[in-house]
Order: sequence, then structure tokens, then C-alpha cells
Amino acid sequence: MSDRTPTVAVVGATGVVGRTMIQVLLERAFPMAELRLLASARSAGREVMVDGRSVTVQEATADAFDGVDIALFSAGGDTSRALAPLAAARGATVIDNSSAWRMDPTVPLVVSQVNPGDLEWHEGIVANPNCSTMQMAPVLMALRDAVGLERVVVDTYQSVSGTGGKAIAELEGQIRAHVAGEPKVASVYPHAIAFNALPEIDVFLDNGYTKEEWKVVTENRKILHLPDLRISCTAVRIPVFVSHSEAIHVETRDPIDPDRARAIFGRVPGVVVVDDPATHAYPLAADAAGSDDIFVGRVRQDPSIPDGRGVAFWVVSDNLRKGAATNAVEIAVELVRRGWTRAASRRDAAPRDAAARDAAPREAAARDRVASRGPA
Ligand SMILES: NC(=O)c1ccc[n+]([C@@H]2O[C@H](COP(=O)([O-])OP(=O)(O)OC[C@H]3O[C@@H](n4cnc5c(N)ncnc54)[C@H](OP(=O)(O)O)[C@@H]3O)[C@@H](O)[C@H]2O)c1
Repeated sequence: MSDRTPTVAVVGATGVVGRTMIQVLLERAFPMAELRLLASARSAGREVMVDGRSVTVQEATADAFDGVDIALFSAGGDTSRALAPLAAARGATVIDNSSAWRMDPTVPLVVSQVNPGDLEWHEGIVANPNCSTMQMAPVLMALRDAVGLERVVVDTYQSVSGTGGKAIAELEGQIRAHVAGEPKVASVYPHAIAFNALPEIDVFLDNGYTKEEWKVVTENRKILHLPDLRISCTAVRIPVFVSHSEAIHVETRDPIDPDRARAIFGRVPGVVVVDDPATHAYPLAADAAGSDDIFVGRVRQDPSIPDGRGVAFWVVSDNLRKGAATNAVEIAVELVRRGWTRAASRRDAAPRDAAARDAAPREAAARDRVASRGPA
């Protein structure tokens, strides 16, 4: 892309995340020559109001990406696998919200305030992390840089909007059925989600973890540039509409106390510390919904780890915003700001050979660490 104002496509524009992407693009006044709304053939021809004017939804086909500079994908893994390479071949840079490309070593996996330097080596596709990974990575980054990470254990409490529009409708329907004294019908989830907690998110893997839990493991390692990080997760779906909550226990290399942990968390852009037990102030899903920030509280020393090297805390964020749409838009902003909208091989001064590409994340990590340190 030259200096001209980009044409932006949202793929999955009729979905929960796609609609939030449109909203965040408008809120951030992201410069757009055209906003193209794409979805499945089912939605083609449907009119959607954007900033007071009606925009017609088009079917997402390869040709629909002609002239598109930035394509925000949020239409599931199959659509991303099929269409993202075709969009990239037409010159668009894809920011993909599905899990299709996240662990591909040729695709950067980026949280905007953690590893924006990794965007430098993209080849037309950039991956947006899973929502549960997204909200913990900036907080873990702060600990990584200050005291080193030895081991992370996280349990998630995830809202139904993380599954999409059908799951929101299912929870609403089950609540109504419960009040009416009728049976609760489950179709999206294997059990009723209303008044329940389901320790099953995404499919089960051979190692006994669910795919969601394993995403937290592998994605954090990639984003934090810590391929050997010891990390474990239990992911639980709960009957909340928006915002994921996480209980995180971290063993650090060097000692850290709660006051210092709060101070370093508070210095991360987009992270807000809410932590006053005396007034019952701690992050809540209901309060985080609608916000772009990541909220951290209940910070305490973990006495099960010796030498003051353990902290435990609670992290909450809106899964549709920072967990998906907001980070995707922030990536788009970074690509434009750094002049990296085009694929690396279509730009000058890009790492082209495999060795350079493999080295790039390490160099980018060093740059990102310096940038994220801020004042002592
Ligand atoms: N919800 C979250 O918190 C979250 C967080 C991170 C990532 N994600 C990922 O984001 C994606 C979408 O999630 P969502 O919650 O927005 O789901 P959703 O509400 O079910 O919406 C799905 C969207 O994808 C479109 N779509 C489906 N099949 C398509 C096809 N063959 N071609 C083009 N468009 C197609 C749908 O269009 P129609 O209306 O025409 O069917 C709709 O716009 C998923 O990959 C999900 O894993 C979600």
C-alpha cells in the first residue's frame, strides 16, 4: 500500500466479533477509503447500518478482495484457511481472528502491546490470538520483563459470546426456559450452560486437554517468545454473556511482592489495576464488558511458592473487544503507522531468508521489551 487511505474489508461482518470490529474501526476513526462488509452467501444483499448509512453485505469470495488493503477476518477457521491466502495473493494484509494460522511459524501472532515488532516479518497474514490468551499475555509480559517467568497456571471462566451469536441465544433461551419451568434445550454446548459451569471449550485433544486450553499454552509461548515456558490451563465456560475472567498463578524467577506486581501491571498500556479488597473492588466481568482495557486485581503473594517468587491474581477483559476486535484494529493501526501494511517480501528492508525470519522475532522481542519498560 502506498500512502493512500486503505480500503478495509471485514469478513464475518454479520457476526458478533465482526460487528464489534466495525464499531471499533469507527470509534478509533481508522482512516478508510472504503469499508467492505463480507459474510457468507446467506447474508449477501443484507443491509447493515454503518455510521448512519446503509452498506450492502457481499459474499466473501476471492474477487471480493480486489482493491482491499487490510482484511479483518472473523468468520471461522475454515473460511480463513480458504480465503486468507487468496486475499493475501491479491495484495491485502489479512488480520485473522480464527485459530487457522496462529501457530504457523511463517505467520506472526501479535498482541498489540506485547510483540508489535513481530508484524515486521508478516507475509500477508497476521494472526490475532485467542481471546483467553489475549488478556493474559500483556500481564505475563510485565512479569517476564521484571522478574522472569518460571511457571504459569491459569483457570479461565469464559463467557458464551466467545462461542458466537448462537451461544448467546442459547443461554438466553435456557434462562427463559428455566423461569418458565420448562426443560433447558442444549444444542451449541453438550450440556445446559444456564446456571452451570462447563469444563469443556473446543474439542478434546489426545493429551486430555481441550483445544482451548492448549491454545493458551502454545499461543502464550509464541507471543512472549518463551518457547519453553511451563504453563498449564483449565478452561471453563460459564453463563456470562460478555467478558472472560481468569485466575492466574505465576512462579517467577526472582522474588516479587504484590505492591510491585500492581505497579508493573499498571504500567502496561491498556492494563488497569482494580484492587482494593476493603471496598470489594476487583475486576468484574459485568464492569469490563464494553471496555477495551484489561483489568487486574486480587493481587496477592502465593505462599505455596518459596522465597517470595509467587504471585496470584485475577484478570478480566471483554472477549469481543480486546479479546478479538480491538486487538485486530490495533494491529491494523500499527501496520499503517510502521509502514508494514504490505507483505515483507513486497517491502524493502524486510527479512527474506528463513534464517533472518527466524531471527526476527528475537530481535523484535528485544525492541518490544525496551518499548514496554516505560519509566522505572
Ligand atoms: N467471539 C469471540 O470472543 C471470539 C474471540 C476470538 C476469536 N473469535 C473467532 O472469531 C470468529 C467469529 O466469531 P463470532 O463470535 O463473531 O461468530 P458468529 O457470531 O457465529 O459469526 C460468524 C460470522 O462468520 C460468517 N461466516 C460463516 N461462514 C462463512 C463463510 N463460509 N464465508 C464467509 N463468512 C462466513 C458469518 O456470516 P453469516 O451471517 O452470513 O453466516 C458471520 O458473519 C471465529 O473464528 C471465532 O473463533 C471469536
